[in-house]
Amino acid sequence: MAFAQCMTKRMLSSTAVRKAIKDVTVIGGGLMGSGIAQVTASAGINVTLVDMNDEILNKSSASIKKSLDRVAKKKFSDNPQGGESFVSDIVGRIKYSSDALESVKSTDLVVEAIVENLDVKQKLFASLDKVAPRETIFTSNTSSIPIKDIAKATQRLDRFGGLHFFNPVPMMKLLEVIRIPETTDETFNALLEYGAAVGKTTVNCKDTPGFIVNRLLVPYVAEAVRMLERGDASAKDIDTAMKLGASYPMGPFELSDYIGLDTMKFILDGWSKNYPDIELFRPSELLNKLVAEGHLGRKTGKGFYEY
Ligand code: CAA
Ligand code: NAD
Repeated sequence: MAFAQCMTKRMLSSTAVRKAIKDVTVIGGGLMGSGIAQVTASAGINVTLVDMNDEILNKSSASIKKSLDRVAKKKFSDNPQGGESFVSDIVGRIKYSSDALESVKSTDLVVEAIVENLDVKQKLFASLDKVAPRETIFTSNTSSIPIKDIAKATQRLDRFGGLHFFNPVPMMKLLEVIRIPETTDETFNALLEYGAAVGKTTVNCKDTPGFIVNRLLVPYVAEAVRMLERGDASAKDIDTAMKLGASYPMGPFELSDYIGLDTMKFILDGWSKNYPDIELFRPSELLNKLVAEGHLGRKTGKGFYEY
């Protein structure tokens, strides 16, 4: 009886928290923001996806539709009509906007997924903080910047956290949920509930650069680039080696092209500036050169490989 009461209480409190997040604003409609909007809408939550202009938002919308079609093709292989209504239901829950300030006026949760740059993120959050309701929770999907550094630009440290999704968001099952010392239990629990609602397994880590995954993954990728720079092996052989010798789904160069070489560079630039003594964070000349030439990986059609 006591157990049943306790379970009911837990279920009620979790429902109460989940109900609280029924409208999410995702800012940045690139690789990550589009995926985050997609999984959020797939969980039955209304989403507004914000980016700079309609041209970018049209691309976001097309990429969400393409990804949902892939999901539907598998899920409804013997029921194409069911697949169509599955896709249109989810698509119908996503609105698009180029006005971030208007979008956050009545939202429960903001997930920021814009460029990996502290100043730009701080500016955005400082402006959102002035117009969003007091109870709205702010989060960043940053790959490498401490959450506290971003949160400092606002007056709502108690309602600030990190939600670090992985690319491609619809396929990757992990979500790192980060709290800063000021984050309340209520905020943190709401973020865990949201993570579960969008189908992710959540892990927690201190607010350290790169959290768990990128603190291990980024130095590994940077080491691979240094191997290539030294001429130890070709990109293709390094990729083949890590796929067949370590069972990674992608080699480090395929993965860099998938993540975006600009994002990889921004991460290393930030870390090498803040931690100049850590050799593993050293920027790479080859990476810098490719980014300067506009070769950002899959998203521009060329990176370490051509697509
Ligand atoms: N949307 C929906 N479904 C997708 C999809 C997407 N974007 N991408 C892949 N899929 C599904 C599809 O069902 C696809 O089957 P169909 O082609 O029949 O539709 C199936 O996955 C297999 O995909 P692919 O055949 O294209 O390729 P794959 O078997 O290699 O799988 C992958 C693709 C899941 C991306 C896999 O290669 C992989 O796991 N790669 C490693 C990704 C990774 O490590 N991500 C983390 C990056 S680090 C990060 O994100 C953090 C950061 O801060 C930088
Ligand atoms: P992206 O370049 O694909 O998309 C970023 C989008 O943000 C662009 O469409 C851009 O127009 C938009 N944007 C920039 N400034 C804006 C502003 N002020 N207001 C509205 N929109 C703005 O980048 P991405 O790969 O989606 O990365 C976004 C964030 O997610 C970064 O912080 C990155 O470190 C992090 N992240 C990336 C990956 C990855 O694999 N690419 C994985 C996890 C986390």
